[in-house]
Amino acid sequence: MLTINNLSKRFGKVVAVNGMSLRVGRGETIVLMGPSGCGKSTTIRMINRLIEPDAGRIIFAGHDIISLGDEALRHTRKRIGFVFQQFNLIGRLTALENVMLGLVMGGMVKEAAYEKALSAMEKVGLVKFRDQKPSELSGGQQQRVGIARALAFEPELMLWDEPTASLDPMLVREVLVVMEELAKYRASTMLVVTHELPFALHVADRIVLMDKGQVVEEGIPAKVFVKPASDIGQRYKELIEYQMNTSALTLAGQRIA
Ligand SMILES: Nc1ncnc2c1ncn2[C@@H]1O[C@H](COP(=O)(O)OP(=O)(O)OP(=O)(O)O)[C@@H](O)[C@H]1O
Ligand SMILES: [Mg+2]
Repeated sequence: MLTINNLSKRFGKVVAVNGMSLRVGRGETIVLMGPSGCGKSTTIRMINRLIEPDAGRIIFAGHDIISLGDEALRHTRKRIGFVFQQFNLIGRLTALENVMLGLVMGGMVKEAAYEKALSAMEKVGLVKFRDQKPSELSGGQQQRVGIARALAFEPELMLWDEPTASLDPMLVREVLVVMEELAKYRASTMLVVTHELPFALHVADRIVLMDKGQVVEEGIPAKVFVKPASDIGQRYKELIEYQMNTSALTLAGQRIA
C-alpha cells in the first residue's frame, strides 16, 4: 500500500535522508527506529509532503505522491493520519470539537462530523471527557485526543512521529495501549517512529532501522533484536539486554530487601 523508493532530502549541506527505500503492506505495523538525526521525522513528513522531497518516489495506494497537484494532494492527505509528538490541540475548543474541526473544515456536515468524532473518541476511550478543554486533560489524554483527531478521518495509513516522547513516563502507557489496540485491529496501516522498545518488540510486524538517512536493516522483531545484522541493530539488542538485566536486578534487590 506504500512504497518508498530512493527518497532523498537535504537541508543545505545536511543530508537528512539519503536514498531511503521501504515497502509497507496493507494492515502492517512498522516501527521505524534509529539514532537521533538519522532522518526518521524527515522521512515520514515527506510521505504526506509536509516536507518536499528532493528525489525519489512515494507510491501510496497506486499514486505517486510526489507528482500530485494541490487538489489531489489535499484529497490524499485525508487518507493519511498523522500523530505528532506535540498535540497541537486548540485550547478554546472542547476535546470533541478538536476532533470534529478537521472534518467540518473538510466540508462534512456538522451532524455527520459529530458522529464520526464521537466514534473516534470512543476508540481512544475518551467519550466521557468529550466536553473538556485540553487544559482540563492530562498529557496522555490530550495525546489520545490527537489520535482521535487523526482516526476521525478513518485513514488508511497512520503516521506516528514519537507520539509518547513529550509525555510524563506515567502517561506513556495509556497512549501505547491505544496504539496497540489500533495495530491489533488493523483498520489502518501504521508507520510508527518511537523509541519505546517494549512496544516495538511486542506490536511491530516489522522493525525498520535507519542510520544516516538510509535503511540499514529490517525484519521481524525476533530477528532484528535477537540476531541483528547491522551495528545499529546490535546496539538495540544490547540496550534491550541491559534493560532486561537492570529490571531483573532491581526486582531481585527488592525481594531481598
Ligand atoms: N528544517 C530543517 N532544516 C535544517 N536541517 C534539518 C531540518 N530538519 C531536519 N534537519 C536535519 O536533518 C537531519 C535529520 O533530521 P530528522 O529530524 O529527520 O531526524 P530524526 O531521525 O527524526 O531525529 P530524532 O530522533 O532526534 O527526532 C538532522 O541532521 C537534522 O538536524
Ligand atoms: Mg524525529
